[in-house]
Amino acid sequence: MRLSVIGCGYVGLVTGACLAAAGHEVICTDIDADRIAQLQAGRVPIFERHLDQILAAARKAGRISYTADAGEAIRSGDAIFICVGTPPKESGEADLSAIDNVARQIAEEARQPKLVIEKSTVPARTGLELQRALAAYSRNSKLTFRVASNPEFLREGTAVEDFFHPDRIVVGVEDDSSAAALREIYRPILERSFHCPLHNGTCPPGRDAAFLVTTINSAELIKHASNSFLALKISYANVIADLCEKIGADVKEVTYAMGLDPRIGGQFLNAGLGFGGFCFPKDLQAFIHLAASVGVDFDILRATERVNKQRIGRFLEKVHKALWVVRGKQVAVLGLAFKANTDDIRFAPALEVVRCLLEEGANVRASDPEAMARTKMLYPKVTYHEDPYEALRGADAALVCTEWDLFRNLDWERAKGLMARRLIIDGRNLYSPKQMRGLGFEYYSFGRQ
Ligand code: UGA
Repeated sequence: MRLSVIGCGYVGLVTGACLAAAGHEVICTDIDADRIAQLQAGRVPIFERHLDQILAAARKAGRISYTADAGEAIRSGDAIFICVGTPPKESGEADLSAIDNVARQIAEEARQPKLVIEKSTVPARTGLELQRALAAYSRNSKLTFRVASNPEFLREGTAVEDFFHPDRIVVGVEDDSSAAALREIYRPILERSFHCPLHNGTCPPGRDAAFLVTTINSAELIKHASNSFLALKISYANVIADLCEKIGADVKEVTYAMGLDPRIGGQFLNAGLGFGGFCFPKDLQAFIHLAASVGVDFDILRATERVNKQRIGRFLEKVHKALWVVRGKQVAVLGLAFKANTDDIRFAPALEVVRCLLEEGANVRASDPEAMARTKMLYPKVTYHEDPYEALRGADAALVCTEWDLFRNLDWERAKGLMARRLIIDGRNLYSPKQMRGLGFEYYSFGRQ
């Protein structure tokens, strides 16, 4: 099928690249002409594992192209994926102006009927507004636009893997023909009948993806409800961690045992510095706003947000307690990205930690495998070290802020010889307190003694 993708951010590029790998002919566009020029020159403007490989293969097969002319992209595809940003407004409400702009462009530029698919995360009932905008701005009253919602459940860092091996594909539609078109788009993935470039065509057997056909409102709600529930799980684990500290229990033991109950599940129960990134904080706010706008009290989500905001303060309390005076101290910050395997620093808890440390007069020495270039632009006063051992050299404390495997596997025997003081404050519970103390470190983490 010929598919158009509008918006070449994380979601749009992964969607475009993976659908091209699945055998479709894809044309991508973006309002950022620079980004399009980079893509046309074969450069990938974002770091996402495997994305460069998939884009290169799609390009070689002639199945992906880029244009800065949105009209060309719109006219070319039978189905159009909208993958533009929906950032939060000051109030927390999602800013849908980019979706509105795209709707108007589609209405004005299309010459044939189109299936318009929302991929961006949007509040429930956006599909209805999209449908209205398409009809209102269309120059040809005979032209029909069908709208569908197909939320993405991709995690940054594993987005390509997630796209090829989804748990569920949710399609919110108004009619059977839209559902049939979306099934056709995803058929190669559902049937695993394409050459998966990640596994050289032989994907390991896994659970079959559920293909769920719902109403548009339900599909939109599924996305916000899923992200908010995961955020809630993390905040729940964080409150359990606080309780463990007061009572004298171990949060890892508690959450592990909880997670063995399949009704609860073990994932997203890691206590620590809390969640960041461009999805959870924003989606949580948008969902709270949506519920309030229809008079539904979603207080548990407000509590989820409140608990998460307190995590930085809880971490800094530990830093103060351990270091006493922060001013003038050499503080090594291990990890800047909002989570491992990404260069994304948007709403990263680590950045808030760095900001507070600098404000207090600490000398911050940071290390992160991917996120240093972006952080440098925000915090030029920090010294940056490719090698984490260099960041630890002469440090009065090591603060672990992101759960990179590189840090999980550090040789602390070696590190302790480099540090001025053997002090670790672990914001991600990466190490065993017993082992670290055995090595001679003063060690603090979340929810453990
Ligand atoms: C999240 C969802 O997991 C995806 O399913 C969704 O598609 C995506 O948002 C989106 O809406 O686009 P992502 O933001 O990439 O994906 O990151 P996650 O892996 O979910 O992690 C979010 C944050 O929670 C990170 O800061 C992570 O460190 C933190 N986290 C995660 C914890 O603090 N504890 C945990 O147990 C798990």
